[in-house]
Amino acid sequence: MASLKTQYAGLELKNPIIASSSGVTDSVSRIEKLEKAGIGAVVLKSIFEEEILIEMEELMLNMTARPFVFQELIDCMEDDQHEDIIRTYLSLIADCKKAVDIPIIASINAISTQKWTYLASEIEKAGADAIELNLFALPSDLDKTSAEIEETYLQIVKNVLENVKDIPVTVKISHYFTAMGHMIQKFAEAGVNVLSKNNEIALPMRWVGIMSNKVAVDLVATTGIHTGEDVVKLLLSGAPAVQIATALYRKDFSVVKEMTDFVEKWMQEKEYETIGDFKGKLAHKNNEKTESWERVQFMKEFRHFVDKHTKH
Ligand SMILES: Cc1cc2nc3c(=O)[nH]c(=O)nc-3n(C[C@H](O)[C@H](O)[C@H](O)COP(=O)(O)O)c2cc1C
Repeated sequence: MASLKTQYAGLELKNPIIASSSGVTDSVSRIEKLEKAGIGAVVLKSIFEEEILIEMEELMLNMTARPFVFQELIDCMEDDQHEDIIRTYLSLIADCKKAVDIPIIASINAISTQKWTYLASEIEKAGADAIELNLFALPSDLDKTSAEIEETYLQIVKNVLENVKDIPVTVKISHYFTAMGHMIQKFAEAGVNVLSKNNEIALPMRWVGIMSNKVAVDLVATTGIHTGEDVVKLLLSGAPAVQIATALYRKDFSVVKEMTDFVEKWMQEKEYETIGDFKGKLAHKNNEKTESWERVQFMKEFRHFVDKHTKH
């Protein structure tokens, strides 16, 4: 029988399907249901850097080195709500760890290197198996260059890594980098695994395929993964796992079994016993020229499109 076990960021997963951070990963009861449905791991709904800073603002009122928080942000948050955000989040982690056996990955939505990164150590103490950093700074400051934004991202990672001792840290990034491969390499050098979030499956697959043999960290994908076939394609590109959110909303949690059944059947047909037997089989090899590999993939796609849409 085929084994779907895999390793992501050093975590042992019973299968490669991870519930992506979303509304379905914000409570113990839903996470218990996800475990029953067969999910391999869960990324909790994100806590936002601003939420952390607001609580810090209150704690540090009498200190000189106060972190800067926009007044609008403070105004928009209900006083009685924000006081407990951090405690509630840490309790969610601890409660999930008691309730389920699957890995629990905490998630922080981060945009700056302000002094919120201490929370990473609290998250580790609460029992999280890993921390995912969703890095998303809207580049609306017209004076900031892309290099400065990239440097901020790397600094966030470094600050967080300084605050955790034993658990892996991953980053979730969009594909809006001019030099995506270079950035993935920089994150890998900083010591994190990379999760690529995009508009459709083609893009993360492309980058997983191009980079998975070039960096010594795991690259996984999120966005647009709806079927077992999508999962197989990403594993073949070199991802050890995938993250899904919309599929869990649209098809209910039974989609997890649909996906794992498909992967298992496909592996049996191909006579693969473990995911390691085929993971990365279609990834770009180190000795191939990236540009020509990319060009061939593009030509194949384009030819297929022309054949399909041309009558004669
Ligand atoms: C309702 C909803 C809430 C989400 N909340 C978060 C969040 O708090 N943090 C995060 O990193 N991503 C969040 N996401 C993004 C998902 O984790 C995922 O990356 C995205 O939906 C793309 O995957 P999909 O195509 O499988 O939905 C959310 C998505 C949805 C649909």
